[in-house]
Amino acid sequence: MSDIKKIKDDYIDKLNKENNVDKVNNIKSELFGKNGIISNEFKKLGSISVEERKKLASDLNKVKDELQNKISIKIQEIETKEINLKLEKEKIDVTLPERDIKIGKIHPVSQVIDEISSIFSEIGFSVEEGPDVENEYNNFTALNTPDNHPARDMHDTFYLDNNKELLLRTHTSPVQVRTMLKGKPPFKIIAPGRTYRSDSDQTHAPMFHQVEGLHIDKNINMGHLKGCLNYFIKEFFEVDKIKMRFRPSHFPFTEPSAEVDIGYEIKNGKIVIGEGDKWLEILGCGMVHPNVLKNVKVNPSKYQGYAFGIGIDRLGMLKYGINDLRAFFETDYRWLSHFGFDPLDVPSNYRGLSR
Ligand code: DAH
Repeated sequence: MSDIKKIKDDYIDKLNKENNVDKVNNIKSELFGKNGIISNEFKKLGSISVEERKKLASDLNKVKDELQNKISIKIQEIETKEINLKLEKEKIDVTLPERDIKIGKIHPVSQVIDEISSIFSEIGFSVEEGPDVENEYNNFTALNTPDNHPARDMHDTFYLDNNKELLLRTHTSPVQVRTMLKGKPPFKIIAPGRTYRSDSDQTHAPMFHQVEGLHIDKNINMGHLKGCLNYFIKEFFEVDKIKMRFRPSHFPFTEPSAEVDIGYEIKNGKIVIGEGDKWLEILGCGMVHPNVLKNVKVNPSKYQGYAFGIGIDRLGMLKYGINDLRAFFETDYRWLSHFGFDPLDVPSNYRGLSR
């Protein structure tokens, strides 16, 4: 036993001084490898008397356990030390400023939404939001667009389930429904947001943006609608005069319905809004259909009003001279740094919208 005890003491000493995992592993093979010191001691057991063997085997096992234990504790100790040292050395101060600062830009779509919200808030509209994932009832049925109505086909809907109960909203009009269902008239809201249709070319993207407008009260008429849109377009394009024309149209949720064109001309290769003899369609509108009001528990013999839906991306393209809709959604940093806006320059009617 004294031999084994000496071996053990020597190696415990050695291990205590060691601080390298590879070297500890070398010691391990020195002791327990094929020709290791402890392994060889075990081999001797075969050539001694039964009495002695019992004692030596028990002593050897104890030493073996002790040494193996020591080895694994040591390895763990060294590894923890190394990790702590690394953490200490590689500390990053996340509060330090970046060296090469590139200031982010506000995307033109966000800018246009802010401008629109600012303009409408001036005349008493509040901003509402609805989810992108809508149910079929809010997107179509409640808006007087029953199951077999041809307008449903025109919307190229992305359905999310086989029963066609959930979909990506095809327009912002369902926010009218949500707003009226949760409140009591009068209502005077706009609802900007993302909309989706399975369509893609230079002027259509599968995801695009609309802003819905809704004004319901006693005695609201089409004159109010005209006045409101006239004010909005002048403010948005930052011009004093605007040419606007209402063309009869059809939407299931309005009666009568109209599409609105604004006059423009091309001067030196640029679109000038409000002049000239060319017309550009920018929105759909009308007086809210009595059936829609009934569906949202508003009494149509007491209340009435107008609604409109404007394509936001289109307005942004016109105002800021962007000619391909797809560029909006390509997340190209060079494009964004050219067409984007200063984040600190929030649009307001007092400070200016786009300056
Ligand atoms: N939801 C229509 C569309 O996406 C646009 C629209 C037309 C909205 C007339 C309205 C409206 O609120 O009154 O094509």
